[in-house]
Amino acid sequence: MTASPLPQDELKTQVGRAALDYVVAGEIVGVGTGSTVNKFIEALATIKHTIRGAVSSSVASTERLRALGIEVFDSNEVEELAVYIDGADEIDGHGFMIKGGGAALTREKIVAAQSRRFVCIADLSKRVEVLGAFPLPVEVIPMAARRVMRQFERLGGLAQVRERDGLPLVTDNGQHIVDVTGLKITDPLAFETEVSQWPGVVTVGVFAHQKADVCLLGTPDGVQTLVFGGAASLRT
Ligand code: 5RP
Repeated sequence: MTASPLPQDELKTQVGRAALDYVVAGEIVGVGTGSTVNKFIEALATIKHTIRGAVSSSVASTERLRALGIEVFDSNEVEELAVYIDGADEIDGHGFMIKGGGAALTREKIVAAQSRRFVCIADLSKRVEVLGAFPLPVEVIPMAARRVMRQFERLGGLAQVRERDGLPLVTDNGQHIVDVTGLKITDPLAFETEVSQWPGVVTVGVFAHQKADVCLLGTPDGVQTLVFGGAASLRT
């Protein structure tokens, strides 16, 4: 008889707990957004007396952290963070990621950029060879949305404005999200550099300049630790 595979939720719980090993005692920890990070926040609450607090990448995570008694600092109050823990929608063999499924990509990139180490927590379904099967989130200034969508269409993508309750979703920063399908992002660094320059793009959900240093990957055989080289030198 073969053992039944662990449900995805259990894999998220396992990587959320495993991320505690990367939390530095006495420091402020960078905290991302999403269902996997929610598991990490639950685990972090059990050791909250050992840390000074957190810098959060979204209103949702801030509320969750505060509800569990973890102090949340504004990112401007903190010069550098030892570690940033966050999930991903896709991660490749270099630690390059697609993020923003939870619409928090801009603040996630900011907190990642001020952190010395990015630890990605993800279940096996997120591990890909080439980025692009997951619809690429791009945060845009609303007046630029159509133009940005046309630019993606010229690259062979199909773009649409993300909606909630029949209206454009509004991010924590008061902007909109365009989701792009049909792309194969074979050079994430060049892609991120190019799209970031398009007028009206706030943040593109490719995290190549702010890639992961480590990925804790939840698999049916346990948590695998993937270590990627060279991220610190890429941080811009
Ligand atoms: C939010 C994100 C999340 O990290 C990403 O969407 C993964 O979320 P989940 O852990 O719920 O699968 O980028 O903007």
